[in-house]
Parts: sequence; structure tokens; C-alpha cells
Amino acid sequence: MTTFAIIGAGRNLGAALARRFGREGFDLALISRSQERVDALADDLRAEGLTARGYAANVRDPEALVEALDRASQELGPIEVLSYNPLPQKEFLRPLLESTVADVRAAIEFSVYGPLAAVHQVLQGMRVLGRGTVLFVNGGSAVQPVQHFAGTSIAFAGETAYAEMLRQAMADEPIHVGQLIIPGGIIAGHPDKDPEVLAEKLWRMHAERGEFRHFATELEEQPY
Ligand SMILES: NC(=O)c1ccc[n+]([C@@H]2O[C@H](COP(=O)([O-])OP(=O)(O)OC[C@H]3O[C@@H](n4cnc5c(N)ncnc54)[C@H](OP(=O)(O)O)[C@@H]3O)[C@@H](O)[C@H]2O)c1
Repeated sequence: MTTFAIIGAGRNLGAALARRFGREGFDLALISRSQERVDALADDLRAEGLTARGYAANVRDPEALVEALDRASQELGPIEVLSYNPLPQKEFLRPLLESTVADVRAAIEFSVYGPLAAVHQVLQGMRVLGRGTVLFVNGGSAVQPVQHFAGTSIAFAGETAYAEMLRQAMADEPIHVGQLIIPGGIIAGHPDKDPEVLAEKLWRMHAERGEFRHFATELEEQPY
């Protein structure tokens, strides 16, 4: 069986994604900073009959991220689908005039260097497999900068550019690249923004291989 690697495998969208793809038969590689938390989620998923393992890595540490993905593919099987959806830290969400170089550097490490390292690591395996999907999940500031959330707005713009260029670079290869934008946040019970609804949308993006960018809802008119 092939593996679905979730970078940012928490209890919200991460867990819903794991269950949705797990139902389709994927083995699940769960990656976040805390080994304890990904192990606990993997235990829960295994109790439900899925195959799951946890790997600790901080996405701001490219070597650790690459090593986690490498171990996952050796222990579970080749990575066919990669989802990049870690939840940005609070310091990336400061207003523009209060944001320091260190804040923005950290956001760029998180949203640009992390995806670059992860994709670089999994791409060759997808080529050997003859198929693959790379999914990016972002808030609305990825397509509409908001001065209240300066770090993510600057870094998500870089991530969006990277993802769009990856889509171009993969145009002649059997590797699909997609981005889901969730304006205004994930909301349990919301018809379009509940984690399970979003996980279903990401599953369809993978299965149907359509447009590059999808929106959970329309962008808010004046998020600032
Ligand atoms: N939550 C929202 O309202 C909202 C709004 C718009 C967009 N989104 C997008 O939706 C996605 C998932 O959000 P979510 O709230 O549903 O998250 P989630 O499933 O609860 O999990 C996200 C996980 O990311 C991990 N993480 C954070 N920083 C990390 C780092 N430096 N390295 C590795 N892992 C890290 C955290 O685990 P550790 O603490 O163990 O590292 C956390 O459990 C993200 O792409 C986010 O941008 C969310």
C-alpha cells in the first residue's frame, strides 16, 4: 500500500484528513513537532483499524523534516500523497508594524523552506511510483494579504508562488498539485468549513485532479 503523509497532523483538520484518506486504504504518516501527540493520534487511528505511525519533526528544521519523511516511506511504504498543513504559530500573525525580521524569517522558514524541503524529498518516490499528489492548505491571507497577520501574509504569498510553480513544473508528469484556501478559519459544524467537509474536499482534489486552487468559501470582502 502507499502512504499519505500529513505534515501538521493535529486533532483538527489533520485527524479528519487521516481518517478520510485512511478509509481509502492509505497508510498514514503523521508528522508534527510533538512525538507524544502524533503517537496518541496514531494509537486512536490504529484502534479504528487504520495503519498509522507518528513522526516528530519541526517544519522549520528541514533536515528533521526530510528525515521524518524518509523514515515514513521506509517503514510504511512509498509516499503517494503529501499534504502540507501545519498550523502557523501566533508570532506569524502579528500586525505589520509590530512584526520583526525574526518573526517574518520564522514564517518564511515555516511556509516556504518547509514545503520546499518536503517536496524535494518525496518527488522522486512519486516519479518511481508513477503517480502522486501534493496538497497545500492555507488561510485566506495566502491570496489576499492582511496587514493584521503580516508574517503569514508574506510567507503564504511565497508558499502560494512555490505551489503554483510546482504545478507548472509538474505539468507533464503524473503528479497533481493543489491548494485549498480556507477563508476565515475552520469551524466545527459549518457546512463548508467543518474539518470533515474540508477533508472530503481535499480527498476530491486528490482523486479528481482538477483545478489547482479551491476555496472552502468565498473570500471575505474586507478581512482587514
Ligand atoms: N485552524 C483554523 O482556523 C485555520 C484557518 C485557516 C487555515 N487553516 C489551515 O488549516 C490547516 C490545519 O489547521 P488545523 O487548525 O486544523 O490544524 P490541526 O489539524 O489541529 O494540526 C496542525 C498541527 O500542526 C502542527 N504544527 C504546528 N507548528 C508546527 C511545526 N513548526 N512543525 C511541525 N508541525 C507543526 C501542530 O502540532 P505540534 O504542536 O505537535 O507541532 C498541530 O497539531 C493549516 O494549514 C492552516 O493553515 C486553519
